[in-house]
Amino acid sequence: MCGIIGYIGNKNSMPIIIEGLKKLEYRGYDSTGIAILDKDKLFIAKCKSRISDLEGLLKKRNILGAVGLGHTRWATHGKPSKVNAHPHTDRFKRIIVVHNGIIENFNNLKKDLEKDGCKFASETDTEVVAHLISKFYKGNLEDAVRKALRKIKGSYALGIISRDDPDKIVAVRHDSPLAIGLGKQENFIVSDVSAILNHTKKVIYLHDDQIAVVTKDAVQISDLKGNTVPKKVDTISYDIEEVQKGGFAHFMLKEIYEQPQVLSRIISHYVTAEGAIRFESFNIESSFLKKIENLVIIACGTAYHASLIGKYIIESFVRIPVGVDFGSEFRYRNPVMREKTLVIAISQSGETADTLAAVREAKKNKVKVLSICNVLGSSLTRESDATIYTHAGPEISVASTKAYTAQIMVLYLLGLYLAELKKTLSKNHINKAIDVLKSIPSKQEEILGNSRNIKEIAKKHLHFGAFLYLGRNINFPTALEGALKLKEISYIPTEGYAAGEMKHGPIALIDEYRAVVCIANDSFIFNKMASNIQEILARQGKIIAIATSGNKQIKDYVKEVIFIPRVDEQFSPLITIIPLQLLAYYIASLKGYDVDKPRNLAKSVTVE
Ligand code: AGP
Repeated sequence: MCGIIGYIGNKNSMPIIIEGLKKLEYRGYDSTGIAILDKDKLFIAKCKSRISDLEGLLKKRNILGAVGLGHTRWATHGKPSKVNAHPHTDRFKRIIVVHNGIIENFNNLKKDLEKDGCKFASETDTEVVAHLISKFYKGNLEDAVRKALRKIKGSYALGIISRDDPDKIVAVRHDSPLAIGLGKQENFIVSDVSAILNHTKKVIYLHDDQIAVVTKDAVQISDLKGNTVPKKVDTISYDIEEVQKGGFAHFMLKEIYEQPQVLSRIISHYVTAEGAIRFESFNIESSFLKKIENLVIIACGTAYHASLIGKYIIESFVRIPVGVDFGSEFRYRNPVMREKTLVIAISQSGETADTLAAVREAKKNKVKVLSICNVLGSSLTRESDATIYTHAGPEISVASTKAYTAQIMVLYLLGLYLAELKKTLSKNHINKAIDVLKSIPSKQEEILGNSRNIKEIAKKHLHFGAFLYLGRNINFPTALEGALKLKEISYIPTEGYAAGEMKHGPIALIDEYRAVVCIANDSFIFNKMASNIQEILARQGKIIAIATSGNKQIKDYVKEVIFIPRVDEQFSPLITIIPLQLLAYYIASLKGYDVDKPRNLAKSVTVE
C-alpha cells in the first residue's frame, strides 16, 4: 500500500521522481520522501504530508543527481511522521532503502542489530532492512541484499541504492508489486507502471524472489541464489491519457463516466461477431469446466460485492452451488474443496494480500483457480491457472467503480459461457442475454446524462449522520456496494442490508435522522420492497428510492426518487449501482473531502 519509484540515467532524477510520486500517491499518502545520489553525494528529504509539500520544499533547492528513489507511504509500522517516512538508511548513511510491504520478523532482527551496535532512528520495520544490508555489505550491493533477504520474513518490494555503489539500483519483490521500466540510456523501478507511462511503455514485471540490478544501460535479473533469470519484456497497452483526469474534477467521477465504454469494450473483446463467447488464452480445459460441481468465489471489498452478484448470476445460469468468501476468511477457515471445485478469484489490482493468500490456500488443495483481474502481469494473474482480464483501464481512484461493473459484466459472460458448456441454457436464451448485455452501456449513459437530480438529492442529504442501504435478491449486494462507496469517501456511518432482514434488527435504527436508500427497481418482489418502504415511512425514516422509469406509484409515497431505465431484473445490478456511485461521489465532494484519496485507505491492500 505504498508507492515506490526509482530512476537511473543521464537526466537529473529529482523532477522525474517527484512527477512519478504524484502518480503513485493513490497508493498511500500519509508521508513521503526522496533520496538523490550524485556519485557518492547523498541528499534525502522527507515530510509528513503530500508530495506537493515535498515538491514545495525542494523547489528552491537545486539538487542534482542521476540516481534517485522516491516513496509515498501508507503507514503500517510507526505512525505517519517525517522520521518514519521513507527512504531509510543504515547508521553510516551508506545504504538507502524504500519499501512496500511488511517485514514480519522485524522485531527480532532489530534486537539482534541493536546488539551489533545499530542505532535506529525510526519505528518502522523498513529501517531494519537498511541496517541488515549494511551488515552484509562487502563491496557488492546485490550480494549484500541476497544475504539480508535470507534473514527476512514477510512481504516486500524494495528499492535499494548505495553511496559506495552509486551506479546501480537494486530492486527485489516478494508479495508486493514491482516493475522495471526500460528507457534509452535510463531505467526505472516502479510499483505501478502507469506512473512512468510518459517515459516508457516497455516494462519487466518482477516475479517473487527475483532481484534486478538496474543501471542506466542494462537490467540483470537473477534469483536469490544468483542464477540469471531470462527477462520477459511487456508493452503497456494503455496511454497516458487514461491515467489523467481528462477534465473531470476527480478520477472517481471520470471512472464512473467511463463505465459504458468499458462494458462495450468487454463485450466486443469477448463476444464474437457470430455471438459466441470466447476468452483468450483460457487454459482451463472445457472438459474440466463441463464437469465442475461447485464454484467458490473469493475476493475483498468491492470485488467481494461483485462476487456476490456473481453467485446470483451463475447459480441462475448454470445451476451449480456458488460459495462466496472474503479472502481474509477463506484462507483461515480450512475450506472444503473437492476435485471438481473451481475457485474464482476477483481482484482489480491483482495484488490484494488476502485474496492472494486465499488463492495459495486453494492451490495447496490442488484446486484450479480462475482469476478475474484488471492488471496485466499482476501477482494474481501469475498465480492463477487462467485469467479473464476486465480491460477496464487503470483505475486510479481508491473507490472502485468501473472495475466493479467490469467484473460483473465478465461474470455474466462467464456464466453464459459455462451455461453453454453445461447445456443449462439454450443458445436462444444465451443470445437474448447477450443482447440485453449489449444494451446496458446506453442505459448507463442515460443515467449519467441526467445526474443533476442525483446531485440535488445529495445536497439535501449530505448532513445526515447515518445511512442505511436496502436491497433484495440480486440487488442485495448492490446495497452493500452502494453503502461501501458512501462510507469510504464521505466517512458517514453507512450500512448495507438485505431488505428482508430489516425487521430482524435494523428497523430499530429508523428515525427522522436516518436516511434510507431503497433499491426499488421493477422486480418480481417489488411489493416486498414497497412494504419495507411503508414500514420506514411509518417511523419517519427519510427515503431515497431507486426506481424503474414508468413506476407510477412510488412517487405517491416517496419524495426523493432516482429513476433508472427499464432492464430485466437479472441484469439490473449493472444499472442500479450507477446512481449509488454518483450519490456517494456528490455527497463526499460537496462535503469537501479528497474523493480520490480518502483518509486511512489505499488503492491496493498489499498487506494483511
Ligand atoms: C473499494 O472501493 C475499495 N477500494 C476496496 O474495498 C477494494 O475493492 C478492495 O481492497 C479489493 O481490491 P482489489 O479488487 O484490488 O483486490
